[in-house]
Amino acid sequence: MKKINTLLSLLFLLQTALIHTTSAQVYSPSPATEQRVNALLAKMTLEEKIGQLTLYTTDWGSTGPTIREGYKNDIRSGACGNLFNSHTVAFVRDLQKVAVEETRLKIPLLFGFDVIHGYKTIFPIPLGEAASWDLPAIEKSARIAATEAAAAGLNWTYAPMVDISREPRWGRVMEGAGEDTWLGSRIAEARVQGFQGRKIGDTDAMLACVKHFAGYGAPMAGRDYNTVDISERYFREFYLPPYEAAVKAGAASVMTSFNDYDGVPASGNRYLLTDILRTEWGFKGFVVTDYTSMNEMVNHGVVANDKEAGELSLNAGVDMDMQGAVFQRFLAQSVQEGKVKVADIDEAVRRILRLKFDLGLFEDPYKFCNESREKTTLLSKEHRAAAREVSRKSIVLLKNDKNLLPLNPGQKIAVIGPLADNKAELIGNWNGAGNPNDCVSVLEGIRAQAKGAVTFDSGCEFFAAKKEGTENALALAKQADAVIVVVGEQAMMSGEAASRADITLPAVQEELVLELVRTGKPVVVVLMNGRPLAIPRLAENATAILETWWLGTEAGNAIADVLFGAYNPSGKLPMTFPRSVGQVPVFYNEKSTGRPYDPNSKWTSKYIDMPNAPLFPFGFGLSYTNFSYSEPKVDKSVFKKGQNLQVTVNVANTGSRAGEEVVQLYIRDLVGSVTRPVRELKGFEKIMLKPGETKEVRFTISDKDLSFYRRDMTFGSEPGEFEIMIGTNSMDVKKVKVRMTE
Ligand code: BGC
Repeated sequence: MKKINTLLSLLFLLQTALIHTTSAQVYSPSPATEQRVNALLAKMTLEEKIGQLTLYTTDWGSTGPTIREGYKNDIRSGACGNLFNSHTVAFVRDLQKVAVEETRLKIPLLFGFDVIHGYKTIFPIPLGEAASWDLPAIEKSARIAATEAAAAGLNWTYAPMVDISREPRWGRVMEGAGEDTWLGSRIAEARVQGFQGRKIGDTDAMLACVKHFAGYGAPMAGRDYNTVDISERYFREFYLPPYEAAVKAGAASVMTSFNDYDGVPASGNRYLLTDILRTEWGFKGFVVTDYTSMNEMVNHGVVANDKEAGELSLNAGVDMDMQGAVFQRFLAQSVQEGKVKVADIDEAVRRILRLKFDLGLFEDPYKFCNESREKTTLLSKEHRAAAREVSRKSIVLLKNDKNLLPLNPGQKIAVIGPLADNKAELIGNWNGAGNPNDCVSVLEGIRAQAKGAVTFDSGCEFFAAKKEGTENALALAKQADAVIVVVGEQAMMSGEAASRADITLPAVQEELVLELVRTGKPVVVVLMNGRPLAIPRLAENATAILETWWLGTEAGNAIADVLFGAYNPSGKLPMTFPRSVGQVPVFYNEKSTGRPYDPNSKWTSKYIDMPNAPLFPFGFGLSYTNFSYSEPKVDKSVFKKGQNLQVTVNVANTGSRAGEEVVQLYIRDLVGSVTRPVRELKGFEKIMLKPGETKEVRFTISDKDLSFYRRDMTFGSEPGEFEIMIGTNSMDVKKVKVRMTE
């Protein structure tokens, strides 16, 4: 086991080193193609131009690889220049052939797909991967996803999703990096670099599409698609930075969001799509709407009909219409009526054609259609090994009473729960071309590593009233030395259109766990879910809890690695776990208020029926070893505005196992021209420490790290006192004070 473990880690490090990509910069089209783009544009009719701005889905879903005859005719006539949900070499080749052999101008199609956390080899859901706080691992997961997808005909992914969210009710938190702006921005960069690889046009890379621009993660009441109404200050400070980071890491495209921002739906919001995205950030790629979000502006009530929606979108800065058929039906008429300028259409076409040229599709429209590459790349041994490694890094140890974990593999173990012998849920939502049959279930993973007897009973259904088998499950538990119970959400309970008002574990499953606890046996709860859950009863009663999200193809092996100690868990929560949905939104970087929480004083900002503190805070996660932190030291306690500050801390492994620790750096500006969060993440480092080893961790704090949108909305720092905090999670830190002078 130890050998496999070392081998896996070595292989992973080697691959990560080889895979690391170029340094990030804003995408800029190759100047060599500009002439070719313009020459082509000069030959295009208005209808053909509008065709390039049109994107349709195939009917692939439950139906297998098919496309409506009408859409095929649209490709032939040049009325549809891009497709999504079409993958596999054979299908893509067929459709590309129509575009390059049967159309007048032979312009190749873009092929898009939601490759969110893997194509065939499925990695942890993005929220889970974010828990690894391991940027090279996250980049690598995106790299492999792109390598597989680009071997299956695809050249464009609808990822990364970088919507910051403080809303566990919102099902789409599973697709993002959680609640923190700084961590989310670093992960956004890693994912863009992973997907786009060394350069656009390589056959192991695809165009990234940053989504959903913007503010989609802040829907009122946590209800998907709902109104977003936050101040410009909050928007710029907490929500916008990850999109900007992704653009500055070179993302070639951006997708709009379904919500409105400040009263204007994102798909028609010129302030977002032109002023911020292009003018402030210098974005030079293209903007695509989210699925029919252009048409939905009629329901929003800002336009009277689809034609007006198309005009609002194009004039706001949208280049491509996903599935709405609005541009296709009405844009020519809008031109005739003088509502839209041909010059603006031309610019949108240029933005799309440039990327088709940069991808090299005009030289070889089938460059992503190589059957033998497809056969050898997908689900390769190396990809599965990498998935196992990223998966175990994503697991968070939430509780471990009496050091129950890791389990001794020689023990008698009862494996219980509706998710224990399940494969269908492991690939989670937005699972690409993943096949549950390729997954390793938890039971299989445990059986492969256990040396004693392993018994199994599902114990109950996901939701239903308890089935007969509960008695059997309890009987098995009584005969075992330890119980592992695998419970949680079904994959479809998170993701799009899957908001929940109640974020507890389904009652029948919670009851199962509590009954198992009553047997007196030690109980390890293995959780699977796509959002933070409110699980105070489990937290109180279970002996140990592992948060495993949905880990994908190698889930069972990765979980067994942690259960039996082949891997020492190192994940940290990227999102706060509340005690109750009533605390939501609850997040770590809150403001002080004028009456900060005091448990002994009634007239402070608090609940009368529950503490303010969440169940598990942001950044929290245990290890099988212990880490101790020295007091942080600064190189100067008084420094001049503009100067960098060095902070160091010694972290020691005081336990008996090697382990990784995510050392976290937070800051607080004690007096600002506007109120400031009581803590904000500004850095972290993940270090490996042998037993007894101590390492010095050094952080550089720049002026930018201390900057914010001041009262007049300019961005910058303000002299005065700051607290620098370093610790193992957002609530357990050691502080040092510093002072900035003019
Ligand atoms: C989702 C997007 C996704 C698109 C295409 C929409 O419903 O909001 O995230 O990329 O569908 O599948």
